[in-house]
Amino acid sequence: MRDELRLFTGNANQELAVEICEYLSIGLGEAVVDKFKDGEIRVSISENVRGVDAFVVQPTGPPAENLLELLILLDALKRASARRITAVIPYFGYARQDRKDRPRVAITAKLIANLLTKAGADRVLTMDLHAPQIQGFFDIPLDHIYAAPVLLRYFDEAVKNNLVVMVPDIGSIKMGRAFAKRLGASLGFVDKRRPKPDATKVMNVVGDVDGKHVIMIDDIISTGSTLIEAAQAIRKLGGISITAGATHAVLAGDAVQKLTESIIAEVVVTNTLSVARNASSKIKVLSVAELLGEAIDRIHEEKSVSSLFV
Ligand code: R5P
Repeated sequence: MRDELRLFTGNANQELAVEICEYLSIGLGEAVVDKFKDGEIRVSISENVRGVDAFVVQPTGPPAENLLELLILLDALKRASARRITAVIPYFGYARQDRKDRPRVAITAKLIANLLTKAGADRVLTMDLHAPQIQGFFDIPLDHIYAAPVLLRYFDEAVKNNLVVMVPDIGSIKMGRAFAKRLGASLGFVDKRRPKPDATKVMNVVGDVDGKHVIMIDDIISTGSTLIEAAQAIRKLGGISITAGATHAVLAGDAVQKLTESIIAEVVVTNTLSVARNASSKIKVLSVAELLGEAIDRIHEEKSVSSLFV
């Protein structure tokens, strides 16, 4: 049985896949992932993968083509007799619809878990899931890793005294607590409401921000409205400087422009999604390639992944 590690990717974030390959000192797996004239996705694996340990790196943020490319790549690898297939999903899209919070809505996170398994994933490696309990939607092994070491290394260098870590909703409090502990900061949170999808209304700021430097931590930046509204509320209460950090830079619509024009001094994100490094002078993009590469290596070598974070 061959047990070679091979890594494939679609078109969602090729740059990250190449960086991971560099870390692993392997070449990118050869595959064609393009479209027929009518727009349907065409995938063909161009090398022999019989018996290999295959990893497919593909975030599943919009457009939906990214998810479809991943599913079709998994199917192609399965039919080509790869020994084991791991879907490496740096950003797991559709995760925010993870429960029936209103009547007659879908639970897309579960649907995507079912699709991935059906398409041929034997295991999943993902990063900063919107809700950690999404792990339970899978009946295959899933490794859930965190971008925190990458963001913390950056904030550690820039850190100031008189610091508060704020999270813009209760869901991110655990993440915020870990950041506050490591940075020696106090912790607070913003109580926000969503009057309608993609809009934010800040109800309360819990925690003392008067005369403090504030780092706001979140998992996702989509429209940017959560961070921008929270920053304005914090400034009104006397916050001196406001920096934001988030793992997944979805940056929907005019988010880049809104963040650039906002009172937030710097927005630090990672490259789980493809973000142009020169998108804005305010947006700093950090790479999670080494972290993902190390996790892939450990999965391949059957070593502990959790010990990466102790
Ligand atoms: C929500 O629960 C998430 O943690 C983020 O706060 C949210 O996805 C950010 O969305 P937006 O940038 O559109 O406000």
